[in-house]
Amino acid sequence: MNFDLSEEQLSVKEAARDFAQNVLKKGVIQRDNDQEFPTEQIKELGALGFMGMMVSPEYGGSGMDTLSYVLAMEEISKVDASTSVCMSVNNSLVCWGLDKFGTEEQKQKYLISLASGQKIGAFCLSEPEAGSDATSQKTTAIDQGDHYLLNGTKNWITNGSSASVYIVIAQTNVEAGHKGINAFIIERGMDGFIVGAKEDKLGIRGSDTHTLLFNDVKVPKENRIGEDGFGFKFAMKVLSGGRIGIAAQALGIAAGGLELSLEYSKQRKAFGKEIYKHQAIAFKLADMATEIEAARLLVYRSAMDKDQGRNFDQSSAMAKLYASKVAMEQTVEAVQIHGGYGFVKEYHVERLMRDAKITQIYEGTSEVQKIVISRGVLKD
Ligand code: CAA
Repeated sequence: MNFDLSEEQLSVKEAARDFAQNVLKKGVIQRDNDQEFPTEQIKELGALGFMGMMVSPEYGGSGMDTLSYVLAMEEISKVDASTSVCMSVNNSLVCWGLDKFGTEEQKQKYLISLASGQKIGAFCLSEPEAGSDATSQKTTAIDQGDHYLLNGTKNWITNGSSASVYIVIAQTNVEAGHKGINAFIIERGMDGFIVGAKEDKLGIRGSDTHTLLFNDVKVPKENRIGEDGFGFKFAMKVLSGGRIGIAAQALGIAAGGLELSLEYSKQRKAFGKEIYKHQAIAFKLADMATEIEAARLLVYRSAMDKDQGRNFDQSSAMAKLYASKVAMEQTVEAVQIHGGYGFVKEYHVERLMRDAKITQIYEGTSEVQKIVISRGVLKD
């Protein structure tokens, strides 16, 4: 087994690290405080080719592999998980979904501007009463001949107010259960589409999470993705890919906490020596590094499953389950190593600890990942 990254992958990692450390870090505390969306930073990410990494250049993307995407996500997330969630949703749930399952017309009309970073996309599945139980969609899209009439409410939508293009999952035939669900492309500005309240969140406060309302929105027939009834499978498939992105985000948050802890423990002195010279701290650092490396291997493995054409449903669920647990546990350790400084914003680790929590919730809670994994292992 070869663990070496290619020259191209190393240069993607380097470019992402450079951007995170030199551009994102500057305003990250302020954006978190003010719940300010990183508008300019996302534009720059688009110019670097990071908003449609896995889409071919023909459709505005960078034509890279999933492993390169993971490497970039990890570096960006070490510094700013609010920016990386926007990047992840756009890359995995929106661009990859359109590239893989969209029609040529949909790709020309929507994918090129999304993959090149000129526009931002959002993915709308969750509802007030449909989170983990994603088949219980209450949003309906009723066939009216040449269009569908969309009605309903979506909750917790990442990029809710910054997006221009929204993929919305809705029930078109209630009797048919998950086989009566479809995915539609909705444009900002369509009559009856309202961006509702913004959530005031514990973490990833720079990202804009909104409720969306659809009141008799006329959706052209050609905006349905795939065959009639394909919407649930579409959502599951793009979420499997999305979980690789969020696993990489969790990995980056944890690794960011370790980098800051290593740096701090070499500067801070207690009882007459730098704190890393105390075994209590050195052992914490050893445990953090080991857990993070284990998460990294699972994340890279799931990216390679996708790149090499293997089924990645189970490995992406494992990567997300484990990496998000590591992110939560190890950012708590990072705060502990920093002591009182860890509890104040200036030292960054308290934000990483707050940001870590969402990685155990969105794109499927840890419990949802266990459903996917247990079904996989019981089938084997
Ligand atoms: N690929 C293709 N098809 C799949 C699939 C996959 N990965 N997973 C399931 N399916 C198919 C099944 O084969 C089945 O089809 P058939 O009946 O034809 O065989 C159909 O879909 C229904 O599957 P299940 O019976 O497994 O469905 P379920 O109701 O038991 O649900 C679940 C399974 C895993 C819990 C699923 O509902 C789920 O993933 N829930 C979580 C949803 C989620 O992740 N929400 C996050 C919202 S998006 C977000 O957070 C984005 C953001 O803003 C950051």
